[in-house]
Amino acid sequence: MPPVIDVVDLEKTYPDGSQAVRGISFSVEEGEFFGFLGPNGAGKSTTIKILITLLAPTAGQARVFGRDVRADATRTRTVIGYAAQEVGVDDDLTGRENLMLQGALYHIEPRALRRRVNELLELVDLAPDADRQAGSYSGGMRKRLDLATGLIHRPQLLFLDEPTTGLDPQNRAGIWSYLEDLNKREGLTIFLTTHYLEEADRLCGRLAIIDHGRIIASGSPASLKAELGGDLVRLSFRGSDEETHAQRSRAAALLEGRAFAAGVRDDGTELVVTAREGGRALPQILRVLDEAQIYVDDLTLTSPTLDDVFLKYTGERIREDAPVQNWRNQRMAGFLRAGAGGRARRRP
Ligand SMILES: Nc1ncnc2c1ncn2[C@@H]1O[C@H](COP(=O)(O)OP(=O)(O)OP(=O)(O)O)[C@@H](O)[C@H]1O
Ligand SMILES: [Mg+2]
Repeated sequence: MPPVIDVVDLEKTYPDGSQAVRGISFSVEEGEFFGFLGPNGAGKSTTIKILITLLAPTAGQARVFGRDVRADATRTRTVIGYAAQEVGVDDDLTGRENLMLQGALYHIEPRALRRRVNELLELVDLAPDADRQAGSYSGGMRKRLDLATGLIHRPQLLFLDEPTTGLDPQNRAGIWSYLEDLNKREGLTIFLTTHYLEEADRLCGRLAIIDHGRIIASGSPASLKAELGGDLVRLSFRGSDEETHAQRSRAAALLEGRAFAAGVRDDGTELVVTAREGGRALPQILRVLDEAQIYVDDLTLTSPTLDDVFLKYTGERIREDAPVQNWRNQRMAGFLRAGAGGRARRRP
């Protein structure tokens, strides 16, 4: 059986010269939950729009269920569902009317359609609010209605462009469980884009990381993280830019090549030590630095995240909001000098 999605050397240059997609290749098998993770402007929506036949590629091929999406646009549209990055809900209609209208566009027979609409309203927990105008819905409810709209015709493949952007954590978690259910219980193949690391990690069996129109890494979240070689111990030092730079260089020279440190990297603000077992490496790192009278100001022990994968391949962090930032801004002043009073934190 051919892959559900098969993309080869796909390129898209917009008329103004923007090279949004610069030669990407990937495939998605039936039943997969596949993710496209990347920062703003990476080319995610452009790729989705080509796959759902809204946009013509400049070069390369895109096949859905074995057929070229452009040559077979009408057929492609009947087997796919799509929820856009911007919610496509009509505010003047009720939730139910939105779904009925969408079903009518697919020429679903009225009785079957009413049944399907009830089913979907249950699925996304909108049954109690079904007969209220969508304009009065919260952001999370609108996203859920939009998701249901994309499912009305029982597609075999669902495209979701940033399904939880702008939602609060509770609504985001709600959408995640609907999507997991759709994928696991109903076997629906899902292609999702996101710039939320946690979302990609939790939902996607396999993902591609896209940046500036190119796929820079792909694989399962676990395998991508495993490539980083273990836990990360991040160390920072106190002083002026010059002083901290000098301390990082000295510390790096002392730690490089030690059995407990699989890798040492200066990322410009922190010294990042990779260790197979971070918990064991930590006291050894501190001992070495203490002996050389290099005092650690901040210290964190983390398991690798997809952000670290992104950093490894691009040299930058994915520009994401809230949780990771907050965590990063917490300080552990004077860890080493505080001795037993200091606490190391492990990020989950
Ligand atoms: N219609 C257009 N005309 C010209 N350039 C465009 C057009 N649409 C997108 N671009 C550019 O192409 C690049 C990729 O855009 P795209 O919308 O695919 O990114 P994205 O990964 O979906 O980003 P976001 O996370 O912000 O939604 C960006 O540099 C964008 O400015
Ligand atoms: Mg987009």
